[in-house]
This record gives sequence, structure tokens and C-alpha cells, in this order.
Amino acid sequence: MTRIAFPDDFLWGAATSAYQIEGACEAGGKGESIWDRFCHTPGRIKDGSNGDIACDHYHRFREDIALMKKLCLGAYRFSISWPRIFPQGKGVSNQPGLDFYSNLVDELLQAGIRPCVTLYHWDLPQALQDRGGFSVRDCAGWFGDFANTMVRLLGDRVTFWATLNEPQIFGILGYLIGKHAPGMSDPARYFKACHFINLAHGVGVAAIRAETSRAEVGTVLQFPPIHPVGGSQQDQRAVRVMDGLMNRWYADPVLLGSYPEDMLELFSGLEIPIEEGDLELIHQPLDFIGLNVYSRFFARHDPRVPLLNAMLDERQRLPGSDYTDYGWEVYPEAIYESLVRLKHEYGNPTVYITENGAAYDDPLVDGRIDDRRRIDYLQSYLAQAHRAMQQGVKVKGYFAWSLLDNFEWHEGYRMRFGLVHVDFESLRRTVKESGLFYKKLIESGGFEF
Ligand code: FCB
Repeated sequence: MTRIAFPDDFLWGAATSAYQIEGACEAGGKGESIWDRFCHTPGRIKDGSNGDIACDHYHRFREDIALMKKLCLGAYRFSISWPRIFPQGKGVSNQPGLDFYSNLVDELLQAGIRPCVTLYHWDLPQALQDRGGFSVRDCAGWFGDFANTMVRLLGDRVTFWATLNEPQIFGILGYLIGKHAPGMSDPARYFKACHFINLAHGVGVAAIRAETSRAEVGTVLQFPPIHPVGGSQQDQRAVRVMDGLMNRWYADPVLLGSYPEDMLELFSGLEIPIEEGDLELIHQPLDFIGLNVYSRFFARHDPRVPLLNAMLDERQRLPGSDYTDYGWEVYPEAIYESLVRLKHEYGNPTVYITENGAAYDDPLVDGRIDDRRRIDYLQSYLAQAHRAMQQGVKVKGYFAWSLLDNFEWHEGYRMRFGLVHVDFESLRRTVKESGLFYKKLIESGGFEF
């Protein structure tokens, strides 16, 4: 056993997102979001559920902040429900929505917890989707206005701003695969949307900087390692293509100022609406990259897929590997590999691990949830983050996903990621053993491994 110790000023937090926990889907004048619409469309969510009530955090945020304090969290990463602020997506802002986030921030500060805001975690106002959503250029401007409004409201108290959560995931799942809201599988629209998503990030950064000079500004990416299914050259090529589609297409313009050449060539027959000046906007200096890490992916050659000739292999099960309830492989090296890659290929940015965690459904027995597998998971991933830090990667903080069991998108409520268990009937919260482990880790700055 060795001790894995983190620096004294390391930021320890937990993360959530608005749609997954807030509920109160119509309270205080909130408008409809694309996730409200998507969930209310039969067949979209595996267990037929929705985020109408979720954890009811909107009404229980004080109780939840008391829990965070009990867990000794130094920071809390949450997102803003855009349709709570602008029920119609733009125009006149909604006072109860503004008040909610203002009160949330005040309560956090009072508890000694640093509020860390992600502006967009997937719940676009439906009114803007009706105008084309991210597949139209205007969306970047709408996002900029929303960002500006929030920084004007909270910029005196919030010093951590992330623009978008996992652009490639909501872009690809929302517009290309249709598994997430707005539920489209439309390549032509996707190739517009992905550029306008990147542009929205850039416009957002400019909007934040225009209002505050004392904030850390960044974005949140998933940047998973992608490995080949087999040893063939074709599988190697598939890795490069899938990495281009999912990782480099989003990381390169933001961090390097250009789209990857090989992908531009591959997509040369498609209409990608890049205009002069766009890349300068997208590529602005950032104070951090938020990295969400869960696992690795596998890619294989697949001639059935037009253009790409490649596909992710999500059914791959390796003997000797463990899998979470989600079917995601427990692969702690993912965190190390992504961090080291950011250092070598993207100029060694400052990084916060903005999400990391595992779905395990352990029973509540006599008031206790013994989620040993989650503790093992957290320890093994943190040890790999630590290993990367020893090699000069600048990791400044870590946010467990998630504070609470919550609404896990198209999977519904079956995937439980919380450090705190939520009974979705009574909405009662119970801290899991992993929550207690996390508290000890925060108090002592490390753990034996
Ligand atoms: C990430 C999302 C987050 C949550 C976790 C499990 O991709 O950012 O909202 O759903 O996966």
C-alpha cells in the first residue's frame, strides 16, 4: 500500500446538471427544454421516465447544500437551466429563474463551497430548437446572450465558468444518432451543428470575458482513449477516424485553432459552414479544460458505415475486465491516457477532472448503502490521475459524478451514479459509503492504495 496524496490546494467537488436533478419542470415560469419534449415523447427513455421531478433539487437545494457541507466538499459543479432563465430561449429573462441561481450561489458561499458553473449541460430551450437549435448559426449568438446574462448576474460571486458540457456527446447523440434530445439522426444537420456548437463555445468565452476579468474560463470535454478492436491496419485507421470524429473535431479548434486536416479531407463533400473569423473566435485562450472521464472506447473497421468506414464497438467485453451497470468498462488508465495526451498534443493546459464516477445500484439496507465497488472505482481512477500529475500534468481539481443519484438521460433512473442515494418515491437522501469515503479523502488530502 502506498499513500496517494494530493496537493493542499487541490479542489475537491461533486458535479450535477440542471435537467438531471432540478425537477420543477414548469415551476417559476420555466420554459420547455428539448429534454422535456424528448422525455415526453413515448419510446425515447428506456424506463419511460422524465425529469419532471427528478431529485426535486429546485425545492430542496438548501438540504442538498447541507449534505455537501457534511461531505466537506470544497466545490460544487452545477449547470444552469437555460429555459429557466429565458423561457423562450432569448428576449426577456425570467426573474424567478435568476433568483433561484442567485440563491443557490449565496447558499453555497455561505457553506464555504465554491460554485462552479457550467452554462450549458444539454437542456436547450425548445423555442430555440424550433428555430433550428444548434444547426443554425444564430444559436451561437443566443448562447452568448445567455452566457452574458448569467455572468452579469453571478460574476461577482462565481469565478469558475465552463461554456459547454461535452459538446461531442450532445452533438453526436442529439443530431447524428438520435439517442438524446433533440433526437435527430440527420448527418447534414449534424455537420452544421458541430461547427455551430464549437462556435457557441467561442462566443460564450467572449461573452464571459466581456463581463468579468477575475474568472477562470474553460470548457468541458470528454476525451476518451480509443483503442482498436483488433490488430489490423484497418482497425488502426478506424481508431484514427473515430478519434477524429469524437475527440479531435472538438478539441482541435478550441485548443489548436484548426479542424484536423485528415477529417476535413474525409468530410470534403459535406457542407461545413465555416466562415472567416470563426476559428479565431473558437480558439481563445482558456484558463482550464474540464475533463470528464468514464472509460475507453473501442473502434473497428466497418464498411457498412458510409464515409467513415469505422464504428465504435460498444459490445466489446474483455475477459478480466469489470463493467459498471451501464456496461462501461472500469478502465482507470483512461484518466491517465487522456491527461497525458492533453499534455503532449494540446500544450499542457490546466485541467479539472469535471466528472468521474460509476453506475452501481447497491441496495439500501438498514439505512446504509455499501457501495464498495464505487469506492474501488474512485480510488483506482484517482490513483491514475495522480500518476499523470507526477508526470507534470497540471490537474487542479476533481469532481465526482455525481453528488446525487439522478435522471440519467435516455437510461432514466436505473443508472445510479450518486455519492448520495436518492429514493425516487420519497426523495429521501442517504449518504452512501462512497460519500463517507470521499469525505475522509477530502479531509486528509489522500488515501491508501
Ligand atoms: C456524462 C454526462 C453526465 C452524466 C454522465 C454519466 O456524459 O456529462 O451528465 O450523464 O455522463
